[in-house]
Amino acid sequence: MRKKIVAGNWKCNTNLQEGIELAKSVNELVAKKAADDVVVVLGVPFTHLTNVVESVNTERIGVAAQNCAAEADGAFTGEVSASMVKSTGATYVILGHSERREYYGETSEVLNKKLALALENGLTPIYCCGEPLEVREADVQNDYVKKQLEETIFKLPESDFRKLVIAYEPIWAIGTGKTATAGQAQEIHEFIRSIIAEKFGKEVAEETSILYGGSAKPGNAKELFGNKDVDGGLIGGAALKAEDFLGIINGF
Ligand code: 13P
Repeated sequence: MRKKIVAGNWKCNTNLQEGIELAKSVNELVAKKAADDVVVVLGVPFTHLTNVVESVNTERIGVAAQNCAAEADGAFTGEVSASMVKSTGATYVILGHSERREYYGETSEVLNKKLALALENGLTPIYCCGEPLEVREADVQNDYVKKQLEETIFKLPESDFRKLVIAYEPIWAIGTGKTATAGQAQEIHEFIRSIIAEKFGKEVAEETSILYGGSAKPGNAKELFGNKDVDGGLIGGAALKAEDFLGIINGF
């Protein structure tokens, strides 16, 4: 059975001390109150990785980087490689977030390099896709997302594809307070699963966790996660408050 996953994406928030406190609070709440069958992941800034790994029970909570370099190593000032991420004890990496595509010019070509290095280093990629508002308004979001997947993760061999998690994040719903309706989320998640089935077969499609991201909160998690093709969430703002994050984890 595919996994239910709730992953926090802290983005560029919290200094190290605040991050450690937040991780400890999440760790305590998850240990006491979270449903056992939900995989919990914290996507934290690079500077926090080692400390967050040390601050949580990593048997229960996975730690993710929010990016990794497109090169294995070498003269790339300021970059952090997949093997460096791995060496901290983190086991996931968020790749292709719309903010990275938009503000840092990440193309499918760059993402393919990052995906390969993440997988080579045994990290689980949380691969993000999703359309901007004008695409949704033109009602061509399925074509847009299909192209994103075809240019990247659909090029992977099946054995690698099986290792990743997909996060569908409509850009118009990120940080805007505007959430996709349960119906909108289900419709596109079902579409994504159907194209995975066409590409890799039904069994692979049924095993792939597809998370929803975009203004998810404790108040709407139940409605979103109640859909048969929504397997959890990638959570921005609400992941910065331990109680809210727990509320989402317990939203299934
Ligand atoms: P918000 O939950 O703040 O809308 O962010 C979603 C997101 O981008 C997670 O990666």
